[in-house]
Amino acid sequence: MAKQAISTPVIRRLPRYYRFLGDLEREHVERISSRELAQRMGFSASQIRQDFNCFGGFGQQGYGYHVKELREMIGKILGVQEHTGVILIGAGNLGKAIAAHVDFEKRGCKLIGIFDNNPLIQGTSTANLPIMPMESLQTFCELHCPQVAVLCIPKDAAQQLADQLIALGINGFWNFSHFDLRINNPDVIVENVHLGDSLMTLAYCMHRNEVETL
Ligand code: NAI
Repeated sequence: MAKQAISTPVIRRLPRYYRFLGDLEREHVERISSRELAQRMGFSASQIRQDFNCFGGFGQQGYGYHVKELREMIGKILGVQEHTGVILIGAGNLGKAIAAHVDFEKRGCKLIGIFDNNPLIQGTSTANLPIMPMESLQTFCELHCPQVAVLCIPKDAAQQLADQLIALGINGFWNFSHFDLRINNPDVIVENVHLGDSLMTLAYCMHRNEVETL
């Protein structure tokens, strides 16, 4: 597979390809052309070919893409066969919903610990895991070496906690805290998630369509 810097937009499309190809596999589709895939996904065929060319191209002229193989290759690129250890900090409304409803294992991750500083919920369980006190965080990280932290805590606690977590070996943040973390370490990756931004994008697109049809 050709090694080159892959642009963020391409990387952001990969989970979508992976999901669509999973649907195709379940429909017992064995192969698909870039044109058919494009139609299903709402991309252009050339976009799809360009994206896959970033990884050395997966298709064969006149044959298209072998669905199962393509999905496996994309899965490898996304690391879905790995079991990256994940901890979640902040077991409030959002944290509990994420713990219960995100299928971490399907995405190459394994939720292995949940922490919260509220003594009233410590010791209770969510997603079959006990909510642990923050005082256990260091020992837990030393023992289990999680790599990713999901931050579901208020924004004013986020930076200090992130610094602490980096010192404990965390090198990936799935950050829901509405605070853009300042991380100087290039080996630490932050994925900020703002559901509100997604809603605003929707609102903008709807509004833009209205304006365009005037
Ligand atoms: P919540 O108040 O229900 O839960 C927050 C939890 O974090 C509580 O259990 C609390 O005890 C714990 N906590 C607070 N400070 C902590 C610390 N320093 N260490 C460990 N645990 C700590 O709040 P909710 O609704 O779950 O939201 C959590 C955060 O996520 C908020 O900052 C909220 O603004 C944000 N949020 C972000 C969204 C997004 O799209 N990014 C969507 C919804 C909420």
